[in-house]
Amino acid sequence: MAELSKNDEREATPNVSEVDVVDAHSETEAVAAVEAPVDRGEPILQIRGLKKHFPLTQGILFKRQVGAVKAVDGVSFDLYQGETLGIVGESGCGKSTVAKLLMNLEQATAGEIFYKGQDITRLSGRALKAVRRNIQMVFQDPYTSLNPRMTVGDIIGEPFDIHPEVAPKGDRRRKVQELLDVVGLNPEYVNRYPHQFSGGQRQRIGIARGLALNPEVIICDEPVSALDVSVQAQVINLMEKLQDEFDLSYIFIAHDLSIVRHISDRVGVMYLGKVVEIGSDEQIYDHPTHPYTQALLSAVPQPDPEAREHRERIILTGDVPSPANPPSGCSFRTRCWKAEARCAEETPLLAVPQRFQGGDTPANHESACHFAEEKDVVHAA
Ligand SMILES: Nc1ncnc2c1ncn2[C@@H]1O[C@H](COP(=O)(O)OP(=O)(O)OP(=O)(O)O)[C@@H](O)[C@H]1O
Ligand code: SF4
Ligand SMILES: [Mg+2]
Repeated sequence: MAELSKNDEREATPNVSEVDVVDAHSETEAVAAVEAPVDRGEPILQIRGLKKHFPLTQGILFKRQVGAVKAVDGVSFDLYQGETLGIVGESGCGKSTVAKLLMNLEQATAGEIFYKGQDITRLSGRALKAVRRNIQMVFQDPYTSLNPRMTVGDIIGEPFDIHPEVAPKGDRRRKVQELLDVVGLNPEYVNRYPHQFSGGQRQRIGIARGLALNPEVIICDEPVSALDVSVQAQVINLMEKLQDEFDLSYIFIAHDLSIVRHISDRVGVMYLGKVVEIGSDEQIYDHPTHPYTQALLSAVPQPDPEAREHRERIILTGDVPSPANPPSGCSFRTRCWKAEARCAEETPLLAVPQRFQGGDTPANHESACHFAEEKDVVHAA
């Protein structure tokens, strides 16, 4: 992956949040969706039919459930060793809930998460602790995710309290200093407090903490969104360097389509708790077949005036439906310009559309739309 320059970054900031998304799958659909691409080896993570429904309750003394917020509603995808899978989608589509489910910070309502073939939703105690060591997280906000009363050394070394086998007591300071060095911070800063660092440096501390237990997978939930544009590129470049050095697999969640394209090998687009389209960065950005993805891409600000002039801006109308009451059939249908009667009756599967199956075309990737077709939209910068 090429280095992202500060200029790239400046052109790369545009966001997705004004647009909406689509999608839908049942558990059966979800399974159909996961036909592993060739030549990537075995997936390190396999997510199948993952759901998280938060109960909606009524009453003060006697609470009763009156519904559920379907934050994640049947998500399936694979993560391969050493790759970066980007996940994009507007606010509230369930990205962070997926991250929390993968980290076991939330318990799944249904579905499975296989780590090297083992379903971690069914593990507990020591077995779960052993697996969890291999899956770590980097959070969005380096200001609130670091305890202001702890020194950097204590913050980075805290995971060793739970896994002392990684760094025995006498060896911790050296190990923490090594981690500071790895993320480009002065090892002498070990006794400083978070407020003595800039935003970018704090995110480096967050990354060092994420690396402490030598994980194989890092879930990054908007890791650069809270940073100044000028600092985002440095942190992204660091993450790419660390990926090569430690053979890490990343799930990279973000709003910013350009940054996601830069760092990702494959990209999944989410709408209302579901993945609506997934494929390589080229397939998703240059050959999207789902109307929601096409709308998202058409909304990316275009720095090139000529391209700007020729682009087709797809304006979606209507509000994003509530995840407590998603539309029947395709959940994007209330905002989709291509919707037909079938879209209200039949939930589209996340699968390679029949007409593209086996074809030597970049449209040959998974898309949850009955009428999936390529559309020439303006590409992200
Ligand atoms: N603990 C909870 N209880 C009830 N509803 C929740 C809870 N956590 C999240 N939700 C709801 O689930 C949906 C998905 O939330 P989530 O935070 O996963 O979205 P997101 O894609 O990460 O959004 P953003 O881009 O704003 O971070 C939202 O409608 C949210 O209000
Ligand atoms: S055409 Fe139908 S199935 Fe496809 S995204 Fe639009 S509403 Fe959904
Ligand atoms: Mg979030």
